[in-house]
Amino acid sequence: MSNILCIGAGYVGGPTMAMIAKNCPEHKITVVDINEDRIARWNSDDLPIFEPGLLEVVQEARDRNLFFQTDVASPTTDADIIFVSVNTPTKMFGEGAGKAADLQYWEKTAREILANCRKPNVIVVEKSTLPVRTAEAMARILESGNSSTQFFVVSNPEFLAEGTAIEDLSNPDRVLIGGEQNEQGRKAAETVAALYAHWVPQERLLLTSVWSSELSKLVANAMLAQRISSINSISALCERTEADIAEVSKAIGMDTRIGSKFLEASIGFGGSCFRKDILHLSYLCEYYGLPEVADYWASVVGINEWQTDRFFQNILHEQFNTLAGKTISLLGFAFKQDTGDTRDSPAIPLCEKLLAEHAKVKVHDPKALENARLDLKDLEGDVSFVEDVYEAVEGAHALALVTQWQEYRELDFERIFQVMAKPAFIFDGRNHLDHEKLFEIGFNVFPLGKVPLKHV
Ligand code: NAD
Ligand code: UGA
Repeated sequence: MSNILCIGAGYVGGPTMAMIAKNCPEHKITVVDINEDRIARWNSDDLPIFEPGLLEVVQEARDRNLFFQTDVASPTTDADIIFVSVNTPTKMFGEGAGKAADLQYWEKTAREILANCRKPNVIVVEKSTLPVRTAEAMARILESGNSSTQFFVVSNPEFLAEGTAIEDLSNPDRVLIGGEQNEQGRKAAETVAALYAHWVPQERLLLTSVWSSELSKLVANAMLAQRISSINSISALCERTEADIAEVSKAIGMDTRIGSKFLEASIGFGGSCFRKDILHLSYLCEYYGLPEVADYWASVVGINEWQTDRFFQNILHEQFNTLAGKTISLLGFAFKQDTGDTRDSPAIPLCEKLLAEHAKVKVHDPKALENARLDLKDLEGDVSFVEDVYEAVEGAHALALVTQWQEYRELDFERIFQVMAKPAFIFDGRNHLDHEKLFEIGFNVFPLGKVPLKHV
């Protein structure tokens, strides 16, 4: 039996530790966070994050071998394995501002670990996404005191996606574990692998060097995001040439070398990680004297911002170049369906641009209104947050679909058409709705990468 500690009870720390606790009942797992409200909610049935299936997993293990608390020091004392799952946002000041990783939270945990650990051997697991060679810095901090503990740093990046976290954790494509290339390092990596072996087949446990593991995480996100920017760039060309982006995606995706996933055109990717991780990768390339490689990856973010702006420009243009006083209703604010997370959601820049044109913005989202309010609190203009979707569309000149919630496909659009201003417009930022049907009802329909269906 081991004492496992996780520092950081966010979107990664909470679900991953709940999954380990569920599958490894012989180990005691304590998850700590400095955020008191978050910890109180992990200890209730009103969890701090919305994630399908998460509550059931937490309920199975909580108070059996899974504990959430704010005191960091005491569980560090007798921890055998410590997962570090704190936030690693983009640095917004000084050298590398807007690009480099801000490692202040991460470094603070390293120092806390050093100050409090008492066991002779402790494995420190990097769960956060970190720039390549961060483990070296972690090891240097841990070796800097006169602690009698011997530390082994292992990289074990997380690949779960929000909205499908439980599915991804239950059945991962792979679990990546990077250890130092010596006997003790390999043993530490194998100890971490043994936790996952409780439910993950052996052939999916991938052991590599620490540096490969750290870099693979950044590259996986960069490659996924690059596919989205690629298809989004082609959606613009489709609009000029009357090709259909859904047909193009299907045709190229059937090539097994390309594959069909992550080829859905959109208003732009969002989420807390794609943008930040690509910028971190790009910054690393700059740092290591590879400006061409840095520019290549930065352009993935550039196309993403351009796509969101293109979506907005289309609304402005089709609204006869004036939005002042017009009501635009947003269907969805979360960065994707099945989550309440709005970090880096394309809804944020879209609202900024709409409000700058003096539009009245009404926001609906089934799970993200609380976060949407916080995201827009400093913006000037007429913005409201509406819980009932039919109320949110009343009097609207146009609807902008931002998030592909399943419930939006099931709306009564005849009823919606009746209460909207005419001519009524729909801008589908996810190609999520039945465009032909909407057109028959009377809407002017603007999909992405397809010929618009217009009555006027
Ligand atoms: P998050 O902001 O939701 O959670 C991080 C938590 O760490 C916060 O609750 C914060 O209060 C806590 N924290 C910070 N410093 C602390 C300290 N010194 N002691 C105790 N707690 C502290 O972030 P997240 O989304 O869970 O992401 C965490 C890491 O995982 C990031 O590096 C991210 O890139 C990576 N990641 C995220 C996802 C995702 O889907 N969100 C997926 C894979 C990897
Ligand atoms: C992503 C990765 O998929 C995870 O493997 C990774 O662990 C995680 O980032 C992370 O490091 O944080 P996540 O951001 O939660 O997960 O969600 P995704 O499903 O990847 O979607 C990201 C964004 O891309 C969303 O805005 C989504 O709507 C958009 N997207 C996705 C598209 O626009 N088109 C697609 O075809 C797919």
